[in-house]
Amino acid sequence: MLVSPSVLSSDFGILKDQVLKCEEAGADSLHLDVMDGHFVPNITFGFDIIKTIRESTRLTLESHLMIDRPDKYYQKFLESGSDIMLLHVESPMNLGELLARMKKDGSRFGIVVNPETPVEHAFPFLEGAEILLVMSVHPGFSGQKFIEDSLVKLKEAKSYIQEHKLHTLLEIDGGINNVTGKRASEAGADILVSGSYVFSGNIMERISSLKRL
Ligand code: DX5
Ligand code: ZN
Repeated sequence: MLVSPSVLSSDFGILKDQVLKCEEAGADSLHLDVMDGHFVPNITFGFDIIKTIRESTRLTLESHLMIDRPDKYYQKFLESGSDIMLLHVESPMNLGELLARMKKDGSRFGIVVNPETPVEHAFPFLEGAEILLVMSVHPGFSGQKFIEDSLVKLKEAKSYIQEHKLHTLLEIDGGINNVTGKRASEAGADILVSGSYVFSGNIMERISSLKRL
């Protein structure tokens, strides 16, 4: 199982140290939750923090853009050291146009669906997408309870990906621990994002336990 710890739940006072621990524990990437206070009712971090994280690790950085205008800012995220941009189908702008631009300049991307959005809404955008991220909580905050219906979405998405022979990896984000992570894995998830579970205990042990699922 691939694991992407969500840095939002880490201790920012010792950010570099926490990033190093994730790397040592075998994390496959780091998940960076960027929120703008418009798309979701919370504000987190932006370019400067991402630069700091970039300087601390060689791990792949995936930026989960919970912002109204990813089209306006994605280049600055790239310049800050993000490797993959995770884009919501619910973003209030033309996603098709943005993806055309990103494909043209070779930017890596994934597609995200919120709990209330049918997963089929992501299917038209999957060509060239490295990741399909199913949200298993309402975006905005870490530490929420896993939404069970997400498992059905994972199964549906997995069938579509296999039927269409896509290379897209299936990722799940929200309320993931060793119990929900196991169920997500059985439903077809390839990557587990986990915030509060990983950072509220022994980081190394928690990441290892998720990787073994
Ligand atoms: C929610 C974020 C998640 C969240 C995960 O808006 O996208 O990545 O921080 O945190 P946990 O694992 O605590 O649900
Ligand atoms: Zn996230």
